[in-house]
Order: sequence, then C-alpha cells, then structure tokens
Amino acid sequence: MHENSSAHPLAFGIDIGGSGIKGAPVDLATGELAAERRRIKTPSTSTPQAVAEVLSELVDSFDLPADVPVGVAFPAPIDHGVVRFIANLDKSWKGVDLPELVHDATGRRCTAVNDADAAGVGEQRYGAAKGVDGVVLVATLGTGIGSALIVDGVLVPNTELGHLEIDGHDAESRAADSAREREDLSWEKWAQRLQRYFETVEMLLSPELIVVGGGVSKNHEKFLPLLHLRAQIIPATLRNAAGIVGAAALAASERPLHA
Ligand code: BGC
Repeated sequence: MHENSSAHPLAFGIDIGGSGIKGAPVDLATGELAAERRRIKTPSTSTPQAVAEVLSELVDSFDLPADVPVGVAFPAPIDHGVVRFIANLDKSWKGVDLPELVHDATGRRCTAVNDADAAGVGEQRYGAAKGVDGVVLVATLGTGIGSALIVDGVLVPNTELGHLEIDGHDAESRAADSAREREDLSWEKWAQRLQRYFETVEMLLSPELIVVGGGVSKNHEKFLPLLHLRAQIIPATLRNAAGIVGAAALAASERPLHA
C-alpha cells in the first residue's frame, strides 16, 4: 500500500501503453508523483476487459481516498470519452466508452484523453512547455508516435500526427521507437527517419518548440543533437511520467480538454 502524506489535492493518473500500464497518484499543486509509480505489463490479449482488470488492480494497490478521480491516458483518439480507432491495442477497443469502463472497474470518476494529449498537458502545465506561447508540438516516441498540439497554452486535441503518410508509409511504422527496436537501428539511422518525420511536421505546422517524450527521451542526447530543424527541439522534462501527470491534471479540471 502506498500512502499520501501531502495535503495537496490529488488525482490518480494512468498511462495505458502497448507494453505497460503505469499509474501513480499525482500532487496537482506541483505535478509531482505523490507515491512511486507502479507498472503492470499490458496483457498480451489487450481487450477492454483484460485491461479493465489491470486498472482495478493498479488503483487498488494505492491507499486513496474515495473521492480521488482517475485520469486515463489512452493510445487512441478519444472523442467525448469514446475510442475512435485503435492502432496498437486489441481492435475491440473501437467504440468503447472509457470513462464508463474505468468507473465500472474502479468505482471512481474518470476522465479519458489521448495519451500524447495527456503528455502535452503535463509538459504545458508543469514541464518543458510551461509558459511557452505560440505553437508547441509535444511528440511521444514509443510503440507509436503520439502528438499534442498546443497553441498559446490551449490544447488542440486528437491531432494524430503519428499517422501522417510520409514517403508512402504510415509515419509511426518507420519512425516510432518500436521501429528502432524492431529493426535494430543505430541511433544515427533512426535519427535520419526522425529528421524526415519532424521536417514534414515542421513544414505543415511551423511550431516554435518541439518537446520529445516517451521512454526513449531518457536517451535524448543520443538522437536529438542529430536533428536539424528550425524549431527548437528539447526532451520532455517529465520524461515518461508526462502522460500520468497530464491525465491526472485533466481528471481534476472542469474543462478537461483545455490545457
Ligand atoms: C495512436 C495515437 C497515440 C500514439 C501514441 C498512435 O498509433 O493512433 O492515438 O497517441 O499512437 O501512443
């Protein structure tokens, strides 16, 4: 059992990914995790029911007051809580109402958002994009490529820029971190693909700042210096916790989709 000793408001953030499901209570005053994060492997058959069981186990392993809300970051576009399409989990997620599923599994109030949007909100409120005006792109490099577009501090949700078609390919199939691992690419080879990806995004959107998150951002010095873009490109301050933190922040906000 993990206990919260701080008096600050809390929300519980969960980040559902292709390989792991991670959760922690978040101190909303500071954006810091209020207890150590717990990670459970994503079930190999990642159906809504199998994932719901993991969510219930995850939330129950923390000692949280009953009124602490849950924010879920999910790897798909989310339209009023409903999964629109799904690239990297079981196809039966399409059409599922996530807040309803999570409420049934945990008994708690839940807000669901796209995982990259959650990371974007985390970085905008507490991290690398804090106080930055203009167009900011937060890109997460993991099983897929996620994107969050933030304009003068306001999130434009569900941008799905990982699925741009570049050189005849779905961009994330070539440039996500999973492609680097799957094809055993060197950092240099992978950086060439990222260069092609980010220069296309830059041509379309002219961001001032690009923030790169996802687990691989802990190795940012291996690939970010190899990229040459007009925009400044920097690692996410919250690293891989950005999704948890952003989802928790949104769970506690009155207008969840505005950062
Ligand atoms: C999904 C996005 C998600 C991204 C990162 C993509 O395949 O379509 O919704 O943000 O992967 O998980």
